[in-house]
Amino acid sequence: MPVSLPPTTDKRTLLGPIQARVSVCVKCPHLARSRTQTVFGVGNPDAELMFIGEAPGADEDAQGEPFVGRAGQLLTKIIAAMGFNRADVYIANVLKCRPDMPAGVSGNRPPTPDEMQTCLPYLAEQIAIIRPKVLVALGATAVEGLLGTRSTMREMRGRWHSHAETPLMITYHPSYLLRNQAPAEKRKVWEDMLQVLERLGRPITEKQRNYFRT
Ligand code: URA
Repeated sequence: MPVSLPPTTDKRTLLGPIQARVSVCVKCPHLARSRTQTVFGVGNPDAELMFIGEAPGADEDAQGEPFVGRAGQLLTKIIAAMGFNRADVYIANVLKCRPDMPAGVSGNRPPTPDEMQTCLPYLAEQIAIIRPKVLVALGATAVEGLLGTRSTMREMRGRWHSHAETPLMITYHPSYLLRNQAPAEKRKVWEDMLQVLERLGRPITEKQRNYFRT
């Protein structure tokens, strides 16, 4: 006699079929051809905090995990400074494939509007399953993906926005901090993360409050 199981609410189980669809996605044939593999997302499916970046770079394309290159190492440090392990939060990108580059050209290019529109439904599914308490958009491309608007980071960062009824904090992409190492810029990102910790009701030490104060 067939046994019908109740629909699962286990978030890891729910994410599995989406990851499987992403891994064979050919909606952007040029990216499907150029990628080593798709980069779905990593971390705790029950996370209260979810970071959204732009797209995989060369390191992420090689390893199949978001934010593992230089910018990723800095993001991991920011997460640790907030008092989390990288495995406690969830990290994903707007694009699941590395934007292709002409042969022999190094570096990255931003996703095109078409690529973003094509890929965004996957991120929407991830967010709908994970249902974090707070989303953090890293940089202008993530903002464009989540809010559908493009504005200057100076205008957008450091205050609360909302995506799918979830509080959304906007901050600079870690690669911006790699390019611009001024303590005042680090402090801006850190102040944004202090607001995130407050919103999550996490304890904040005096030492944490003073990080990167100039
Ligand atoms: N930059 C991003 O936006 N995402 C990554 O996964 C790596 C670098």
